[in-house]
Amino acid sequence: MILVSMAFAYSYAGDVKYASKVKSLYKDGSDKVVGRLLPTAQVEVLEQKGDKVLLRIEGYAQADKQVALYFVPNRRILNAGFSKNADVEFKITKSFKESESKQEWVKASVELWSENADLVESVEPLYKEAQELFGNCSVCHALHPPKEFNANQWPSVVKSMKSRVGYDSNQEYLVSQYLQKNAKDMPKDK
Ligand code: HEC
Repeated sequence: MILVSMAFAYSYAGDVKYASKVKSLYKDGSDKVVGRLLPTAQVEVLEQKGDKVLLRIEGYAQADKQVALYFVPNRRILNAGFSKNADVEFKITKSFKESESKQEWVKASVELWSENADLVESVEPLYKEAQELFGNCSVCHALHPPKEFNANQWPSVVKSMKSRVGYDSNQEYLVSQYLQKNAKDMPKDK
């Protein structure tokens, strides 16, 4: 009995990995894309079947708007976003009133499949790559430091400059994530 529960606990914990690119998400047994996982988002690999892996993705969502899982409450930093009408099942682990927005938020997870590629063991090399890419932003003007904008402002700034630095969309999302997570209004311990 003890052995069984230990084995279960072990497989349940899964292998922690990080998306290195924007990844498609699928429901069990389907090839229809129901969402996207963003670079630097942490996942747990629960199971592997052929070239697909079952991922658990955690994050925060507004209680009445379960269309995305965010890195922290009340900031538009996506771990994963889901298609409208995809009806992805959220497993809610915590409900709380978020102090800034005074709205109901939940901590939740989803379990979805993705290709077993572009998953890495450690997030630091991704942030290093993002930092190097961000360095190209000082070619034409002084670098606007991460702390110059709020987390919700950075994606549109990067989008507007994207063609000037020549980022592809993976690079755009990677740099945006890095800037958002180091933005002016991020709590210090994040
Ligand atoms: C090829 C030249 C070039 C590169 C590379 C470039 N920029 Fe710019 N940037 C400009 C110019 C020109 C302006 C001013 C005109 C404008 O806003 O379009 C500007 C303006 C800005 C502004 C001020 C906008 C505002 O409204 O105050 C920000 C912030 C900015 N860039 C950020 C970035 C970031 C971040 C990157 C890298 C992802 C970047 N830039 C890369 C040319 C560049």
